[in-house]
Amino acid sequence: MDVLLALDQGTTSSRTLAFDRQGHVLAQAQCEFTQHFPQPGWVEHDAEEIWQTQRRTLVEVLRQLGPKVRHVRALGITNQRETTVVWERATGRPVHRAIVWQDRRAEEACARWRAQGWQPRVQALTGLRLDAYFSAGKLRWLLDHVPGLRARAEAGELAFGTIDSWLLYRLTGGRVHATDVSNAARTLLWDLRAQAWSAELLQALEVPAAWLPTVHPSCHLFGELDPAVLQAPDLTLPPLPIAGVAGDQQAALVGQACLEAGLAKNTYGTGCFMLLHTGAQAVASQHGLLATAAAQPPQAPAAFALEGSVFVGGAVVQWLRDGLRAIRASAEVQALAESVPDAGGVVLVPAFTGLGAPYWQPHATGALVGLTRGTTVAHIARAALESIAFQSAELLQAMNADAQAHGAQPVRELRVDGGAAVNDLLMQFQADLLGIPVLRPAVTETTALGAAWLAGLGAGVYAGPQELRALWRLQRRFEPQRSRDWAESALERWRRAVRQVLAGVE
Ligand code: G3P
Repeated sequence: MDVLLALDQGTTSSRTLAFDRQGHVLAQAQCEFTQHFPQPGWVEHDAEEIWQTQRRTLVEVLRQLGPKVRHVRALGITNQRETTVVWERATGRPVHRAIVWQDRRAEEACARWRAQGWQPRVQALTGLRLDAYFSAGKLRWLLDHVPGLRARAEAGELAFGTIDSWLLYRLTGGRVHATDVSNAARTLLWDLRAQAWSAELLQALEVPAAWLPTVHPSCHLFGELDPAVLQAPDLTLPPLPIAGVAGDQQAALVGQACLEAGLAKNTYGTGCFMLLHTGAQAVASQHGLLATAAAQPPQAPAAFALEGSVFVGGAVVQWLRDGLRAIRASAEVQALAESVPDAGGVVLVPAFTGLGAPYWQPHATGALVGLTRGTTVAHIARAALESIAFQSAELLQAMNADAQAHGAQPVRELRVDGGAAVNDLLMQFQADLLGIPVLRPAVTETTALGAAWLAGLGAGVYAGPQELRALWRLQRRFEPQRSRDWAESALERWRRAVRQVLAGVE
């Protein structure tokens, strides 16, 4: 038997999962960690706490595996992307708390770069936008605010990494400072097509090259786990190659077996992240999406994806629970929403933290429109669920428009995962809006599964991507049941509400 481990380092928790080669979960452990909010709009993590929670879950899973531990063949890492860590090479100590992807403090630097006219060039080179979401602005903030940092970075005393890179460094006892293409592609400093750090952007954004990690394909022998770092001397382990690394959304694309152009997945987490594999072509979006690197299997050419992100997806259910107190537990939302036949004309635009793709309006605020004397909390709950599907539908429409402009076929089906993908009402509504089938897989742990599969490919456990395609299993298929006219008028209602929100910003 072969066992593959995946470290899944997310925004709110560190997890480790063990899979067999068919993709069944053999063991898992999870540990939440502290969210720091030092100022409005700022979000920080303690990188040391991230490492310690990740280490604990790994040790726990190794213990759960018992005698099977000797069959562990490889370890993969997947992670919250963009989050920025800087540490001292000599001591391994972080010089500052990690600045999280949600943190908006870099907006000032990004606005300055936009005013200098850098946006088109940045998009052409990196596929991204000059937004505080990505790592470069966070690095620039650190350089501008932490005394002595620039001189130390330029002298080679410091290392920068996204969370994968930080974990890799700790897992290998400080021997490896590296990352993979999918994480490098989220820094704003990576030349997507040239597959190299962009000297032009490093110079323009005034970020030193000396602290950047080495970049490898996602399947690669990044290093070997140093058993001493686990602080668990009772565990006897085989040599454990770290053979797969990818950002969480790109790992989910692999876990959904979306391994060739035209296949798309949507992850319904706190936000929603939709990725469409575009094969060997990095598509420059004309419709508000990002171009990004897809995880790269061994001996394969570089692969790319189009990505659309919605900032408030499943989080809208938390708002119903904690903000409106309309439900006591998130699981109650489906029953409440199903207690009415439709949203009764109510539309919720949950622009609680601005609007992401395709609008990119950081200053937008939310709106609830279409209220009448007959509106009940059930209508609002239904509108909240529908808002997740409306936002995702706009991402898919943007993807199809970009695909069409490049002579590619429109997306034929959407594979789904993440917490809210268990909601049948939402998935049916999504299929009805999109007019294409929505496919929910048997294993919804697609992010961790993707990391395990990448590690399995990297370590030679799987012969190639074709083996993974055969392992992906369907749990339920949601066919569209409504007419396109119905979908079009529903989407028009949604777009009208968004226009109202956008008008409020000017
Ligand atoms: O780009 C941010 C994304 O990678 C975070 O994902 O699942 O940790 O919220 P998650």
